Amino acid sequence: MIKTVEWTDEGVRMIDQRILPMEEKYLMLRSYEEVADAIKKMVVRGAPAIGVSAAMGLALGAKQSVGTAVADLEYDFDHMCDVMGKTRPTAVNLFWAIERMRDAFRRAKAETASVEEVKERLVAEAQAIFTDDIKANRNLGRFGGELIPDGSTVLTHCNAGALATAGDYGTALGVIRGARDAGKRIAVIADETRPFLQGSRLTAWELAKDEIPVTLITDNMAGHVMKQGKVDAVVVGADRIAANGDTANKIGTYMVAVLAKQHDIPFYVAAPISTLDLTLSTGEEIPIEERDPREVTHMRDYQLAPDGIEVQNFAFDVTPNELIAAIITDKGVARQPYTESLRRMVEG
Ligand code: MRU
Repeated sequence: MIKTVEWTDEGVRMIDQRILPMEEKYLMLRSYEEVADAIKKMVVRGAPAIGVSAAMGLALGAKQSVGTAVADLEYDFDHMCDVMGKTRPTAVNLFWAIERMRDAFRRAKAETASVEEVKERLVAEAQAIFTDDIKANRNLGRFGGELIPDGSTVLTHCNAGALATAGDYGTALGVIRGARDAGKRIAVIADETRPFLQGSRLTAWELAKDEIPVTLITDNMAGHVMKQGKVDAVVVGADRIAANGDTANKIGTYMVAVLAKQHDIPFYVAAPISTLDLTLSTGEEIPIEERDPREVTHMRDYQLAPDGIEVQNFAFDVTPNELIAAIITDKGVARQPYTESLRRMVEG
């Protein structure tokens, strides 16, 4: 099993996703600041993995706080939550996890005056966020797996696998693993996913490790392979889903959804309930992260573009709900109209 992020007595341990697949190296992060920095620099990435890591970072920070009263710990903890909340703006799982940790703090504070007890409860909450994510992805994998016919080839974009979650199954790749574990023969086409190459470096790596047949293509080949009839379904993950089903995911996802529509291929989004943001009525309101232009102009130290060139580096785009055949969650499969079906998922 791929261990994306882990709580240990020494700190938060995570696999360094910036150097995969060339090196499989684990980092031990020994403070909440180091965890926040790892999220920002994409040592760990993928919406659920960011949420789990943030929760563990907060638990670690709380454990190390030297305050002797619960009020001192609360002061430190509030600051840690602010720092963690400024790491990446789009994946709502980050804010969901911070809120869950804040809630755990409030409940503990109402029940005990012991600083040690509050700290222990925060560690337990972070561990629960971790195990809940693994369970959620197993469930959505089972629901989603039923939608994929035996013998299908599924195209996916970015990495929404074990590496993008607490570990184990993943979301979009959880659906593929769910179908495989139900005895179906499934092959995958992975978009390389410029500029960070989550598809070629991470999705291809984890599927090959799992012996699921995978073929790598560049992003601009997706239309061609669909036209050749090589794709039976598209399954992607999500960073934030608005109340009407509009879905933010890795840049290029919208393009894939439009192509899928043109070729009459079902386009599925797979995400746990923690990725839903029902406070936003449409995807227009989702903040889109823009990252360092150097990710586009350089491949590590190798320059790919002229000096000083104007660059836009949007990390995500929004796929309008009308292009999405179904949203697969851990509570079941939501279909149009999403405003009602997603609300039912959350309430149920
Ligand atoms: O910039 P990243 O690598 O964090 O973006 C990741 C994605 O867009 C994933 O598809 C999404 O977070 C779903 S992960 C289960």
